[in-house]
Amino acid sequence: MPVITEIEDLRRIYQRRVPKMFYDYCESGSWTEQTFRENESDFDLIRLRQRVAVDMDNRSTASTMIGQDVSLPVALAPVGMTGMQHADGEILAAQAAEEYGVPFTLSTMSICSIEDVAEKTTKPFWFQLYVMRDQDFTRRIIQRAKDAGCSALVLTLDLQILGQRHKDLKNGLSAPPKLTPANIANLATKWGWGMEMLRTPRRQFRNIVGHAEGVGDASSLMAWTAEQFDPSLDWGKVAKIKEMWGGPLILKGILDAEDAKKAAEVGCDAIVVSNHGGRQLDGALSSIRVLPEIVEAVGDKVEIHLDSGIRSGQDVLKALALGARGTYIGRAFIYGLGAMGKQGVTTALDTIRKELDTTMALCGRRNVHELDRDMLLIDQDFH
Ligand code: FNR
Repeated sequence: MPVITEIEDLRRIYQRRVPKMFYDYCESGSWTEQTFRENESDFDLIRLRQRVAVDMDNRSTASTMIGQDVSLPVALAPVGMTGMQHADGEILAAQAAEEYGVPFTLSTMSICSIEDVAEKTTKPFWFQLYVMRDQDFTRRIIQRAKDAGCSALVLTLDLQILGQRHKDLKNGLSAPPKLTPANIANLATKWGWGMEMLRTPRRQFRNIVGHAEGVGDASSLMAWTAEQFDPSLDWGKVAKIKEMWGGPLILKGILDAEDAKKAAEVGCDAIVVSNHGGRQLDGALSSIRVLPEIVEAVGDKVEIHLDSGIRSGQDVLKALALGARGTYIGRAFIYGLGAMGKQGVTTALDTIRKELDTTMALCGRRNVHELDRDMLLIDQDFH
């Protein structure tokens, strides 16, 4: 096993270990992938001001997100099909997050179900909701999240219509993979992954299969999903879901100051400034680039979180210094999971925590509450 010192090391091992179809599903953006690329590269337009001779004993990365204690302000983002990256992937990631003291968010489109994850964890996790046309399904899945003790609902607003990702179409993405000649040839080179998968019955979208009408095999499920996302989701429906849920609510996918104001008016505990990791509207601005205008618009009204493009503790520091209370990682933890299972998720979190801690110290700050814009040197191109 090579020495792992950065998230990129995990990505390389992950690429070797997991079937191409699932690697491509993770490592792609929509259309030209401009937004996907800029999510990462825009962080480089922000430099850091070094400070010296400040007592750096007793440092801490601890904070809170929506009032819940976190050892590090980095939650695991909801990622569909996590259980195809590694057998029982959602359970392993949730356990790693629980042990590390950060929130885990289970996607509606997960392989392991809400109940599977609840059974194998001891602390509450967050549940991410995609709103479906079938209101009964929405009502029932919210009830299942309540019954499982989920401590926040993350309502995703930027996927009423699915953004097109070329690779998924070309690979014929499905769970479990369809046995086409190309897939069989690729799977034959991925023995470790295959052996683990055979050890678990969890290879379908278990939040949905058996819980919704007309869902059978993988291909009908994919077609069903594409038809079922509710394209008429609006602020009125958001208010109804808030009422149905009745607990801590996080609105995910905000990229515009006007939308941020509407989210604050509806009433939520936090918003996530996010472009879905560049998977939805290609050509949208990177999350880090829009963060300052959203902080200015609603920073005093609602807690602000950010995701899309975070690959290091320095990225986390920059988001916090620009006014985010917390961040999420999607791909960074999936690389770890696909590379090394639960240990890989812990390694991803630990890599980011160490980078954040060291960077804070070299900038003369002892804890995440001391981070502010004065420590940043922002390139002209960023504005
Ligand atoms: C996602 N994302 C996502 N979001 C969501 O609300 N529900 C979901 O089911 C998924 N599924 C999903 C699958 C994959 C493979 C990826 C990479 C992402 C978006 C995710 O929650 C988050 O917004 C991004 O991953 C953040 O960007 P980074 O950290 O991956 O750059």
